[in-house]
Amino acid sequence: MTVTHSSTSDMIGREDVNDVEAILSVPMVDPDEVLHAVKSDAETIFTWDYSLARPHLRKLYEKAKTGQWNGSIDIPWETPVDVEKTIAADQEVLGKGVDPDWYAGTPLERWGDKEWLEFGIQGRKWMLSQFLHGEQGALICTAKITETVPWYDAKLYASTQVVDEARHVEVFARYLDEKLGGGYQINSHLGMLLDDVVKDARWDMTYLGMQIMVEGLALAAFGFLHQLTSEPLLKHLLRYVMSDEARHVAFGVLSLKEVYEHMSDAEMKERQEFAFEASVRMRDRFLQQEVWHHMGVNAKDIVPLMLQDPGRKMFQQMLFSKIVPNCKKLGLLERNDQWLRRRFEDLGVIQFEDWENTGEEYLKFELGQEPAEIRHH
Ligand SMILES: [Fe+2]
Ligand SMILES: [Fe+2]
Repeated sequence: MTVTHSSTSDMIGREDVNDVEAILSVPMVDPDEVLHAVKSDAETIFTWDYSLARPHLRKLYEKAKTGQWNGSIDIPWETPVDVEKTIAADQEVLGKGVDPDWYAGTPLERWGDKEWLEFGIQGRKWMLSQFLHGEQGALICTAKITETVPWYDAKLYASTQVVDEARHVEVFARYLDEKLGGGYQINSHLGMLLDDVVKDARWDMTYLGMQIMVEGLALAAFGFLHQLTSEPLLKHLLRYVMSDEARHVAFGVLSLKEVYEHMSDAEMKERQEFAFEASVRMRDRFLQQEVWHHMGVNAKDIVPLMLQDPGRKMFQQMLFSKIVPNCKKLGLLERNDQWLRRRFEDLGVIQFEDWENTGEEYLKFELGQEPAEIRHH
């Protein structure tokens, strides 16, 4: 069988990954949109084989049952959150999200403390909103995996993840509503990625798009924010969500490892391309077009600089610190003449390849088991 070569524009709708014009030409999702329908081509599969065929997945299922927590009881919702104070304190540690000196000659040059604080507040609302929409994506994808995966052990496990994700949607939605006074519509790049993952008829693609890519990024981003924010309620909430997320990524790694071992080069190429497409979509979403729009700034003036901003580059690369080692563990980097390795080199994220993969690391995230670097203070 020959391996087909899709062009970059087949995969991501443009030839140059950094084509700002094309990135920004994707319109923002209507803020008033309430419902969004996606057709899925996937088959729902029953299995009559109830034997314990995959003990590693059953172990995760047992962990999931004892790892449950209650979003309305286990999170100290009574904690007051002073948004301005929180963001000002976090900006002391995190920086402003972008490096002001880097944007000389743009409208940001005229911003004073008031504008930078407002930018920080909007940025936080925006980021937690994208987490929220991603969590709903995970809720829907794991319901889909429960239906489409042919393995009994995986159906059992996936059903527990549906409950986990419902809880994550619940706590992020509540935090945004009660503590931040509302959030943002889904970013269109994230929306396109979720649509692709939900639409695809092949059950393993749901795992790759959700468990490896979206949740891998979420685990890294949650860890980053958890470590750096001084806001105790958010810290607590993120710690609880992370204890579940690490298990979810492990579910993806353990399942796909088995599937990919038997795949042809041509089939692997499609998975590699999908992983690349997802990486670009996720990078594009962090350009936070909606926040620039809210601040009255033309994103076209800012985004070309953002793509080169050294401070942001570090943050952006960190987001891939779970994805790259997990892709490596799955054999996605090396197959087809290292096709995905070369794409990750282009995106500047290959340096994470030998970091710990989540197939083994998830036990560290269990509540009560945390090492110093992720312990809740
Ligand atoms: Fe989640
Ligand atoms: Fe998850």
